Amino acid sequence: MIAIRKDQTSNIPAIAPGSLLGIEHMAAAEIMSLLKAAARMNPRRSRPPLRGKRVLLLFYEPSTRTRSSFEIAAKSLGAITTLVQSSGSSIEKGESLLDTVYTLRAVGADILVIRHPNAGAPLLAARHLDIPVINAGDGMHEHPSQALLDAYTILRHKKTLNGLHITIVGDIYHSRVARSAIHLFSKFGAKITLCGPADFLPELAASLAPGLHLSRTVEDAVRGADAVMVLRVQKERLAGKKISLQEYILKYQVTAERLKLAKKDALLMHPGPIVRGLELTSEVADCAQSVIVEEVQNGVPVRMAILARALGKGKDGR
Ligand code: NCD
Repeated sequence: MIAIRKDQTSNIPAIAPGSLLGIEHMAAAEIMSLLKAAARMNPRRSRPPLRGKRVLLLFYEPSTRTRSSFEIAAKSLGAITTLVQSSGSSIEKGESLLDTVYTLRAVGADILVIRHPNAGAPLLAARHLDIPVINAGDGMHEHPSQALLDAYTILRHKKTLNGLHITIVGDIYHSRVARSAIHLFSKFGAKITLCGPADFLPELAASLAPGLHLSRTVEDAVRGADAVMVLRVQKERLAGKKISLQEYILKYQVTAERLKLAKKDALLMHPGPIVRGLELTSEVADCAQSVIVEEVQNGVPVRMAILARALGKGKDGR
């Protein structure tokens, strides 16, 4: 089989440089340099740095924002993209993850972007390929490009990430967005408050990073925050658990009244997709403090920087 890499010293295959599998093991300086590169990305350059390269998008789970912005980012850098989804591909016929990624490498992939319902799937792919692998969300594990675009969005408003108070409200347990955000913001000394009912926020969540605070009341959690990140209830990951949505709405929905307890200039964030009337009201989703649309917009330059970094194309995408 082609494309298997082994490092020199052991039987554990090496991971291609430029891969982005998670935020947990990234240094703060590396994060900042990626965000600075994103700020310099120019989608209209005459000699695009990824011209002739092939970016394969392998999506085993539904996606709107992440998929379309990785595709637009890749094309903006001059790359050719191909999307493979689990429905309509040989995955439906029972092909394994590794056989699928070997196939995509064989058709000429230079970068693999993968979303998968199982934590660790991008790492497994990366260990068996000689090309960079980008994690576009793996199960309940990590969603590094989302955390980076959220940090980028906050930086555009707050100038620094250091020492901010970030509050995350909602289905934290099932959220890879929360996990990556916690890893990222804690590297910058943020005070992070997590808020949700026990089913969505077990006590042991506090051990995920230093300086985490748990709160069961949204009013306490939001008070004094610089940014309030709201998360969707991930019904597809509840695995038979019954939660009362009525009770959730009553206690945890982010309403205009609750948002007023945050700082005056607090940002209201959500990775999307939003469910109006459930985790937040329509009024909050569309309020002046909401940067939900901006987060989506910022996903393009941030993913351009991720893809350019994957192929070592300089800090400004050259
Ligand atoms: C999230 C995801 O897929 O993890 N969405 C996203 O990528 N922007 C969050 C979610 O599905 O609720």
